[in-house]
Amino acid sequence: MLVIVKENYDEMSKEAAKIVASRLRRKPNLVLGLATGSTPVGLYKELIRMHKEEGLDFSKVVTFNLDEYIGLPPQHDQSYRYFMDVNLFNHINIEKRYIHVPNGMADDIEAHCEWYEEQIKKFGGIDLQILGIGANGHIAFNEPGSSLGSRTRIKTLTQQTIKDNARFFKSIEEVPKYAITMGIGTIMEAKEIILLASGKNKADAVKAAVEGPITAMCPASIIQMHRKAFVIVDKEAASKLSQEFTG
Ligand code: F6R
Repeated sequence: MLVIVKENYDEMSKEAAKIVASRLRRKPNLVLGLATGSTPVGLYKELIRMHKEEGLDFSKVVTFNLDEYIGLPPQHDQSYRYFMDVNLFNHINIEKRYIHVPNGMADDIEAHCEWYEEQIKKFGGIDLQILGIGANGHIAFNEPGSSLGSRTRIKTLTQQTIKDNARFFKSIEEVPKYAITMGIGTIMEAKEIILLASGKNKADAVKAAVEGPITAMCPASIIQMHRKAFVIVDKEAASKLSQEFTG
């Protein structure tokens, strides 16, 4: 695990984009695992810039997103598919057929989860997985207590997550109660991982993930077991680490 501390959110995003771009130049048909949320938006902006100004080519890239709400169609403005379209896919030359986001409207969700895992295998596994981290140490929708060996499956959102998400919907009743998420076992099979974190409210989670015991109570702590993981954080998110790390 390589911990890289950058001055601020912008620098963190650029460092991550540099790594993604280098892997993509080496392997044009890179299989990229993607996250939603506010953290990777700067990384996606930088990748879009590299595409537009430097010709970074996404035409052969295959993507797999971590998660999606159950019950929201792809065109719903709170669906993760919509988020990805707006923040990345609509601005790069990616082929629609190579984009994979779990389908929250699938008739048989369990069969769909199995199919999702098969697709990842079919494309040779995820080369590079981008992760954010929740303030409670979650990765994707794997909340504290999730099995460290889990696969893609349905998860019930915690009351806290439902409350946190209510601000994006007209009322709390409209917030989805279930989601499809890649499992921790699925994520750990990625050949490389970049975990990003920015801001003071992530400092405790980053400390627990990087320096704490490996425990299901902090799902992100499993990253200590990964053979090639980068933890790229800004100074605020790194502020509780006891060891000195540099950029
Ligand atoms: C999103 C995801 C979540 C987020 C996490 C951090 O696909 O899997 O685990 O990465 O909740 O969210 P932000 O970046 O909004 O702080």
